[in-house]
Amino acid sequence: MEPQPQSRPGPEGVEGVVERYLNAVRAQSAAVPASYPPPRSKRYPGSPRTPLPWPGPGAPPLTGAGLDRLSALLLGYGPRRVETLTSAGLSALTGTPSSGPVFARVLPAWFTLRRSVPSGGAYYPGEIYLAWTGSAELPAGVYHYDHVHHCLELLRSASPVAELDRLLGATGTPANGARRSALLLACRPWKNSGKYRAFGYQLGTIDVGVLLGQLLTSTPAATVHLAPDPRAADDLLGLDGVVESVYAVIELPTTATVEPDAPPDRTPPPDPVGLTNDRLALADADPSAVALHRAISAGGDAAVRADPHPPDTGAAASPPPPTTAPVRLPEVTSLDLAGAAAGRVSASDLAPGLRLGQLADILAYAGGHRATTTALDTLSRHPLHPSLWCLVSQVDGLPPGAYRYDPRQHLLWPSAGTGPQAPTTNVVDRRMATAGVTVFVVAGGHQPMADLTPTAFRQLHLLTGAVVQLTALACQAVGAAARPIGGFSARDAAEQLGLPHGHTPVVQLLLGAPKPRAGLLAVALTEGTSDA
Ligand SMILES: Cc1cc2nc3c(=O)[nH]c(=O)nc-3n(C[C@H](O)[C@H](O)[C@H](O)COP(=O)(O)O)c2cc1C
Repeated sequence: MEPQPQSRPGPEGVEGVVERYLNAVRAQSAAVPASYPPPRSKRYPGSPRTPLPWPGPGAPPLTGAGLDRLSALLLGYGPRRVETLTSAGLSALTGTPSSGPVFARVLPAWFTLRRSVPSGGAYYPGEIYLAWTGSAELPAGVYHYDHVHHCLELLRSASPVAELDRLLGATGTPANGARRSALLLACRPWKNSGKYRAFGYQLGTIDVGVLLGQLLTSTPAATVHLAPDPRAADDLLGLDGVVESVYAVIELPTTATVEPDAPPDRTPPPDPVGLTNDRLALADADPSAVALHRAISAGGDAAVRADPHPPDTGAAASPPPPTTAPVRLPEVTSLDLAGAAAGRVSASDLAPGLRLGQLADILAYAGGHRATTTALDTLSRHPLHPSLWCLVSQVDGLPPGAYRYDPRQHLLWPSAGTGPQAPTTNVVDRRMATAGVTVFVVAGGHQPMADLTPTAFRQLHLLTGAVVQLTALACQAVGAAARPIGGFSARDAAEQLGLPHGHTPVVQLLLGAPKPRAGLLAVALTEGTSDA
């Protein structure tokens, strides 16, 4: 039987939590608060640190073994490039003369650290932890990844295997000596809430999904666990689950070289720094977002599990195809998504010239038609996996209009929507929305979003984030440009797309041909690591 998403009524206290949260998001004003605390990165001062190999420009590329393998994987979240927007570039963007006093005094240049993943408002609320069974290069233990300095901070020594077994279910010891290690992806849900208020909770979960999607492109043998028991996972890392909590786990088979049954280390991890602003924001956070977070942490409802081999019942959850003939998309080309990560960036300007072949590849990799790893394939089969819809303005070889992507058959179905009218967002220049295509990541095919249980709601947003990152990587790989946008009118989008009842656009990506970025100086910090 096809696994069904959990629906209301759930356990006592859970009912209505998601709906109240969504109402609060809907009611919040579009204006950004005048001031809010800046995001701080988290560190564990005093804990032993293991620097990870840093493949700077000109250095030999990382290999696929030992610490190099971990380094390549974690660079998916580490700094990859420094970009400087010169005063000439700022002048071009703002229309202010670069010779004026403003640039000389206030904005001599604008520096940005670029990473493989985008994040709403560049808040990066995700944290990565490593529960490691031990190898010649890295002793067994639980580590925090300091993504600013690209190093591991030891929180606890000794093998975490027993705790991982409790968290993920025992597997038995494989004969080949492979042991279980894991990356645990946590979210700091209040890191962005000073700026984004209630909406920030949703945005932060998507951001962790983006990170999940990125890491899964580089872990061919991994198993993914969406929304594991948060209490057990947070305990393993010594987290205060209200301030920071584990949202997903990536299980990595590793070959351990340590005694498997060493007693677990019960020493509490050192105190972290960097969470003060999160706690301040939590004190001021939207009560419905806090209630939603607490409901998931309390573990009152079960996570929706993906069946790795669901029966092929056709697109049961998809709306029926319209009578118009579908557009047959060009054959999918082979793309190196892992290699594309180092150069990914969110476009701030788009040009016309996107071709149908490029769009076809982007949809195939992002929509689940072509999964590059087993874990990504599992995600694409999840009952809550979102679908992709498009508002096409200018794509060479495709008439403008509204379309639904069918990942099973790699087709575009014209939809009953009005097609692109006015852009559904005003956070970027109009030409960004009209130069190519706007791709929407749409929840649907299950009960309406407001009726999902809190845990299913989290899973949906993690899956959405993974699709965002796959879209961004596929764009980079085919030479297209993209910008994810969280702030847009879902009602306008639903109308223009012709979405069936119960379908909700969660995030959109503006796609087009890249434009030269005037006044921009970019320095690569790391080489590409496509052999990860
Ligand atoms: C889920 C999500 C939502 C976003 N929403 C917006 C948005 O509404 N407007 C915008 O200009 N950028 C948006 N962005 C892009 C971020 O601002 C961008 O990723 C961040 O500034 C880092 O820059 P980079 O992606 O170029 O590295 C979003 C990114 C993500 C992942």
